[in-house]
Amino acid sequence: MDIKKIVLRGVIFMTFVCTLWGLVSLGIKDSAYYKVPQLNCDCPPGFKLNENNECIAQNLYMAYTTENDHGVGGLKTALPKVRDGFSPQQIDLGRYLFFDPALSKDGTISCATCHDPEKGFSDGLAASVGMNGYQLTRSAPSLWNVAYLKLFFWDGRAKSLEEQMKGPLFSKEEMNNTPDNLLNTLNNIDNYKVLFEEAFPNRNNNTITLEEIYTAITAFESSLISLNSRYDQYAHGYHKALNEKEIEGLNVFRSFVARCAECHTPPLFTNQQIAVLGVPEPDGKPLDPGAEIPYNDKTMRGGFKVPSLRNIEKTAPYMHAGNFNTLRETVQFYTDGRGHAVPENEELRIHWHIWEPELSDDELDRLVDFLKTLTDETFMPEVPTELPSGLSNTNHNS
Ligand code: HEC
Ligand code: HEC
Repeated sequence: MDIKKIVLRGVIFMTFVCTLWGLVSLGIKDSAYYKVPQLNCDCPPGFKLNENNECIAQNLYMAYTTENDHGVGGLKTALPKVRDGFSPQQIDLGRYLFFDPALSKDGTISCATCHDPEKGFSDGLAASVGMNGYQLTRSAPSLWNVAYLKLFFWDGRAKSLEEQMKGPLFSKEEMNNTPDNLLNTLNNIDNYKVLFEEAFPNRNNNTITLEEIYTAITAFESSLISLNSRYDQYAHGYHKALNEKEIEGLNVFRSFVARCAECHTPPLFTNQQIAVLGVPEPDGKPLDPGAEIPYNDKTMRGGFKVPSLRNIEKTAPYMHAGNFNTLRETVQFYTDGRGHAVPENEELRIHWHIWEPELSDDELDRLVDFLKTLTDETFMPEVPTELPSGLSNTNHNS
């Protein structure tokens, strides 16, 4: 036999072996051999397990008593009430659900498609893209610290995380699912049946319910805590955590000239109110009425929820329709004159703290320096590499 034939036979044999192995491992993955790991029985960092198997939030801000003792912009002020008390298993189950495109009608879109951990749980787009490439009108907000929020969506139309998520899950433009189809899908995935049983013991029958799905996802979202930025270290008394320029920026931020802290009130960097700023829409787009619609109130036309500024460095572009690409452009907006971008045919009730602070270029630069000290991703959750549904977790807008 000549050498060519030997090599050829070798190649054919190896191809055969590889194909066989490929088929076998595919089979293993899809069949009962694929085991999801047991759900975590420890709380994520930033939480402490109590005797009832509940994760309770822990942070230095809990040492401070009232929200207003030290005035707006004061350092040692408390945080608003937090959503906590979920079990470690519910939080971990929520993590799988959050990343799983099985929650959408056709298995292509997960929450993480538009809320990507790599992008501060936003997606880097001015307006998010949903089912079949449909372009939404608003940008995806960050999900860090949503456990402290009382209003959800840019226009504040939802009052809880549970209520909020029905929006994307069941809207045609986003995940395009229906409650029945969602239940049907999850109840037909054995791995999920096991995991839900683990996260919700003491139920009567082993059937996944909508309430359990909402609770688990809420539990995961509420675990996304970011309170260890350099700003926080400074606030707790470690003066060296910020350099001189950043401290200058902080002082501009909380001055009654710039008035940022009146609305972006530390330590959450939002007072959770709706404010009309008169932010321009991207070219050619009509004015977004914002809170006017859900609150049925003309005075709220063009009003949006004051967003938290934590991890703001990670979530460009900025504002409800993402029309500012950089933080520098965003802070410039506040000094370009009250109502300067309001369309001629509109009369908006611009908030009284939006005025003409006439900040210098230097002060605007310092504001940006300061905003970047609010970055902290130390409690970043682990992104699951394999999902209970067997679907892939790779579909991100960004
Ligand atoms: C197609 C993209 C997309 C998908 C998928 C998506 N979201 Fe969103 N999300 C957005 C956009 C855009 C907004 C803002 C919409 C608005 O304000 O009208 C938003 C808003 C939110 C908010 C409100 C945050 C705040 O500060 O008000 C939460 C919480 C949230 N999404 C969680 C989720 C969860 C949980 C899922 C999965 C069940 C999900 N999202 C799926 C794009 C998406
Ligand atoms: C009257 C309340 C108010 C004041 C004062 C205010 N803001 Fe805002 N801020 C808002 C609201 C509301 C939005 C969202 C507006 C929108 O999307 O149309 C916002 C958005 C932002 C954003 C973009 C956030 C994001 O997620 O895209 C940044 C950055 C910001 N503000 C920084 C500042 C700075 C710096 C100052 C001081 C110069 C300031 N703000 C003063 C209410 C306020």
